Amino acid sequence: MVEYAELKLDGKVYQLPIIEGTEKERGIDISKLRAESGYITVDTGFKNTGSTQSAITFLDGEKGILRYRGYPIEQLAEKSTFIEVAYLLIYGELPTSAELEAFENDIKAESLVHEDVKTIMQGFPSTAHPMGVLSSLATSLTAFFPESLDPNRSAEKVNMTIIRLLAKIPTLTAWSYTNARGIRANYPDNSLGYVANFLKMMFALPTEDYEIDPVVVDAMDKIFILHADHEQNCSTSTVRIVGSSHANLYASIAAGINALWGPLHGGANQKVIEMLDAILKNGGDTKKFIDKAKDPNDPFRLMGFGHRVYKNFDPRAQILKKSADTILDKLGVDEPEFEIAKQLEEAALHDEYFIKRKLYPNVDFYSGIIMKAIGIPIEMFPVMFSIGRLPGWIAQWKEMRSHNEPIGRPRQIYVGANERDYVPVESRS
Ligand code: ACO
Repeated sequence: MVEYAELKLDGKVYQLPIIEGTEKERGIDISKLRAESGYITVDTGFKNTGSTQSAITFLDGEKGILRYRGYPIEQLAEKSTFIEVAYLLIYGELPTSAELEAFENDIKAESLVHEDVKTIMQGFPSTAHPMGVLSSLATSLTAFFPESLDPNRSAEKVNMTIIRLLAKIPTLTAWSYTNARGIRANYPDNSLGYVANFLKMMFALPTEDYEIDPVVVDAMDKIFILHADHEQNCSTSTVRIVGSSHANLYASIAAGINALWGPLHGGANQKVIEMLDAILKNGGDTKKFIDKAKDPNDPFRLMGFGHRVYKNFDPRAQILKKSADTILDKLGVDEPEFEIAKQLEEAALHDEYFIKRKLYPNVDFYSGIIMKAIGIPIEMFPVMFSIGRLPGWIAQWKEMRSHNEPIGRPRQIYVGANERDYVPVESRS
């Protein structure tokens, strides 16, 4: 039985249906309110606006819950792989072993990119940020696969675009990295798994053998799994809204990459390392920076601490903390930034200011440390996030199209000038 909320406007009562999700989340359906009453709702930043009903990811910030398709993130991080999680997000169920094998083989078959991509890449100056390069190259794939321009094609053809994206984005990422360093691009090695192949394309040099380190592969696999989806965040909402105009999937993903580029979204882990470096340059005095962060008159904040949604703990940070400890231990990396990071972590866990405000190290704190330890340069951090988020963006785009959602088109309350007459330029003062 449908329940209704009542809203009284200008003396008239409007019945607004209540929608309940499978986890008992409740929302008020206002989609007919404007047509019936002339009123719209206003919610800048969409902080309290549900844009869709989605079956992909569930998160509860208060309880520290994150689940993909119902599976707890802790179980997926421990027992699954990124490529299996990608399948789960995109197709809705965990694959059988035959389905997983076919999925991996399909991706491997598409892992090469057209050689002409190198010409496009070489057109970028050495100052180009890798996120800009990646989003441009993602869009450029439409030129190599023009049939993808129409996203209303058969499910089979759309699936081919999905496979191509998963296959080619790691290759494009690695190529943009080697291109920026001025060294020869590495081709995919289809004898390797998805993450190991990606790391080899990134780091193998023509002068020496590249050894796959399973500890590094495992850490990167976990980072990708933990970043694979986070429901209707800024970049995902961007992908859905761009796709809602029936823009093709490559263009929608490129838009997601651009949204993720912002320091308020995908750039936070980079800020963590920059802060650690700044503390070091200032003599390594962590107490001074902690005091600055606690000073209400100082805008400085400890980067990598606190979260808008997770107010008790970030389940992803708990998993990555273990991973960071393992990486630092096994690789034996001993850079001074990591000592500073440990001191900050200790302070946050024991200082009354941080405890009272529930400010724990977040996922960016640990992913920044892990990627730094692995040797990934900080400007590539958001690019790594893009590879991780790719299956989530694809799954959300696919869901939006399969629901045949209308074009995204928010309303506004106009607060500009009222009607006035045009004044010729010579008469303006
Ligand atoms: N360092 C010091 N104090 C902090 C921090 C911090 N990192 N974060 C919040 N606080 C304090 C605030 O000053 C405020 O104190 P007050 O109550 O005395 O005024 C209190 O904690 C609450 O802060 P809000 O800004 O209201 O918390 P909000 O939920 O809006 O912000 C945010 C969350 C933006 C993540 C914030 O904690 C922050 O700026 N953190 C640092 C940046 C960062 O790590 N961002 C990545 C987030 S994770 C992600 O995006 C994947």
